[in-house]
Amino acid sequence: MTILVTGGTGYIGSHTATALLQQGYDVVVMDNLCNSKAEAINRIEKITGKRPAFYQTDMMDMDGMRSIFRDYKIDAVIHFAGLKAVGESVQQPMRYYYNNITGSLQLFQVMAEFQVKTIVFSSSATVYGMNNPIPYVEGMPTSATNPYGYTKLMIEQMLMDIHHADPAWNVMLLRYFNPIGAHESGLLGEDPNGIPNNLMPYIMQVAISKLPCLNIYGNDYDTTDGTGVRDYIHVMDLADGHLKALDYIQKHPGLEVFNLGTGHGTSVLEIVKAFEKASGKKIPYQIAPRRAGDIAAFYADNTRAVNLLHWQPKYSISDMCRDNWNFISKNPNGL
Ligand code: NAD
Ligand code: UFG
Repeated sequence: MTILVTGGTGYIGSHTATALLQQGYDVVVMDNLCNSKAEAINRIEKITGKRPAFYQTDMMDMDGMRSIFRDYKIDAVIHFAGLKAVGESVQQPMRYYYNNITGSLQLFQVMAEFQVKTIVFSSSATVYGMNNPIPYVEGMPTSATNPYGYTKLMIEQMLMDIHHADPAWNVMLLRYFNPIGAHESGLLGEDPNGIPNNLMPYIMQVAISKLPCLNIYGNDYDTTDGTGVRDYIHVMDLADGHLKALDYIQKHPGLEVFNLGTGHGTSVLEIVKAFEKASGKKIPYQIAPRRAGDIAAFYADNTRAVNLLHWQPKYSISDMCRDNWNFISKNPNGL
């Protein structure tokens, strides 16, 4: 089976491409490299002994995408490509709507032209909005609070409507919680541009002294130690979730929504302590004001994914911190 992985040189895409190749799938990667490097392809080859085909193609380029579908008989698409920085999406909404929504629509149009109707989409826990009780369950109402979140909601809606109009479309909407960790080889990991927005990439930069100090956004939340609580999940567990989703959809055609999280919450201070233990490095921090738009705590109810996909996250928080440290200490300047 040949899988087209859009966004496949990015963080989650590159780890998933590795897992797919190791599972015996053929992989074609498409990415415009706006937030990743082609070096990821070399790293994937080093780990798996197989080199995925790579197209530096933008979702805005429909003819470029058509040539991929002409060159390869694609059986399914795993669609990671998109812009993902919440704050940036508030500053640059048009760029986010254009890239994520128009780009995805064009991808779906090209898939339809080539009769490729199986897709796994990277959605996010952000679609649960601000007002749901925790843990989040797939059937809860969805909403968004920023343009990035609206793009995820809209793309979910587009795929639901496409499936409704033509039930031959098989759609997996995977709502990721907070992916961290890296490939155990230290060859692949998260390599964001500029100053990181997310917690773990920021801690990694502090650990190698590229940034002086972590700002902890609030210690007066209604949580065990007052800092924000999230459901951190190892990127290789997430990658495995995609393999399980592909298996499932072949046996059970249709449309499904799954949370991919561990079901456990961890606070910012607990992450800092776990990272210090794994790395032997002190992470200096200061308490800063709450970050606009943050909520105190969320984590997944992953019962559906565990029961239906037969997926079980394996990695602990200390494994995640160990693998992040392994990656950043081997790649202080990224890939
Ligand atoms: P990433 O930025 O590392 O990967 C996304 C990739 O898409 C990048 O390599 C980028 O170059 C590529 N891309 C962007 N626009 C493109 C376009 N127009 N054409 C072709 N390629 C394009 O991000 P990631 O963390 O690997 O996230 C992958 C997906 O998962 C994204 O859709 C993201 O929104 C979603 N997601 C991520 C998280 C997270 O915390 N990392 C959480 C929930 C959902
Ligand atoms: N945090 C800090 N300091 C930092 C960065 C983060 O204290 O420098 C705190 C946040 O306040 C929050 C926790 O660390 O309590 C996690 O923050 P992240 O930015 O790493 O992740 P978020 O949960 O805010 O959001 C991310 C994506 C969302 C997505 C969500 C679930 O940015 O789009 O994960 O997938 F919805």
